[in-house]
Amino acid sequence: VAAKTIDPENIVLTSGTSEGYSYIFRLLCDPGDEILVPAPSYPLFEFLADLADVRLVPYPLLYDHGWQIDSDALRAALTPRTRAVLVVHPNNPTGSFVKPREAAELAEICASRDIAIVADEVFLDYAAIKRTAGDRTSHERTGGDRAAVDRTAGAGATGDRPSGDGADGSTPRTVGESTGHERTTADRVDSGGADGAAPRTFAFGSAALTFTLSGISKICALPQMKLAWMVAGGPQHLVSAAMERLEIIADTFLSPGAPAQVALPRFLEMRGALQAQLQQRVAANLGYLDALLQSEPGPLERLAREAGWYAVLRIPSSRSDEEYAVELLERCGVLVHPGQFFNFSQEGFLVLSLIAPEDEFEEGARRLHQFFAA
Ligand SMILES: Cc1ncc(COP(=O)(O)O)c(C=O)c1O
Repeated sequence: VAAKTIDPENIVLTSGTSEGYSYIFRLLCDPGDEILVPAPSYPLFEFLADLADVRLVPYPLLYDHGWQIDSDALRAALTPRTRAVLVVHPNNPTGSFVKPREAAELAEICASRDIAIVADEVFLDYAAIKRTAGDRTSHERTGGDRAAVDRTAGAGATGDRPSGDGADGSTPRTVGESTGHERTTADRVDSGGADGAAPRTFAFGSAALTFTLSGISKICALPQMKLAWMVAGGPQHLVSAAMERLEIIADTFLSPGAPAQVALPRFLEMRGALQAQLQQRVAANLGYLDALLQSEPGPLERLAREAGWYAVLRIPSSRSDEEYAVELLERCGVLVHPGQFFNFSQEGFLVLSLIAPEDEFEEGARRLHQFFAA
């Protein structure tokens, strides 16, 4: 099968995915225009949209042993002022991928209305790894072999090989691909949908004008290096027109610094080792959390996830998520995010970061578990 590549002419570098959003909002919207966004999802969209005088209209993700787009509600949310549908693939904090069937429906909806898809793929490299028999969480290990992680379960599948986009110092041609397309699935949980395929990037071919965003803040775990990109895809005449205007926006700011651009090929080469460490930590923390919840069943339930760095817990809704989060912080010294931050449709959810060092996570999870058991 011939490798797919991205034409460098269709890539715009930005100094962060967040900045990429502001370019896209400028490109697609007049003040008061609307963009559909998933709920729950990443809270920063609201601020970015406010700054650009863009109105965000939520469309629900529904949970039933996994998350899916409520496509009837999405269709109902479209208005003549809708300029794009945003997807986060996989989503933060739910860790759910857009399924191939959903992506196809989205492309059809957007193409027929002449609106764009904006696909945020900052977590695409972090599909949940299967824990093999050899994997143990740190609490299952004795202190001494804590560092002896099982690399076969590590996340190096995409990253252990250079992306091919930088070894020769050339423009990052295959960035879209490197964020998931080439994934080796053998050691991963299938997260691409019922067809068993690996999660696919939106960067290749669509009937609709599509902007695919990612950056090194997540895929190389280097947020301070401030480098990200967007790839324009879809019908060529729409892509060309969009790129002409995006070039003006990007040239106006000239934001990405040269040092990070020069270092990018090396960063991308290194990402396999970084991702493997993070993935291992995420899997160990999740394993610990699950074992804890199973050890003494109580009012907490961890929702199914397919990817990313977070776990969503269903908690009692007798008080607000925020009240629980504040009390956990003040009484137990445990920092969690209330679901409300992420626009969950109802109370009863907390979001836990899984990238904390294992000792800290375990202590925090124990205190949280005790808090709700009491
Ligand atoms: C879904 C999502 N998109 C975008 C961003 C921002 O990324 P960047 O650091 O590239 O601006 C984040 C950061 O957490 C995120 O979770």
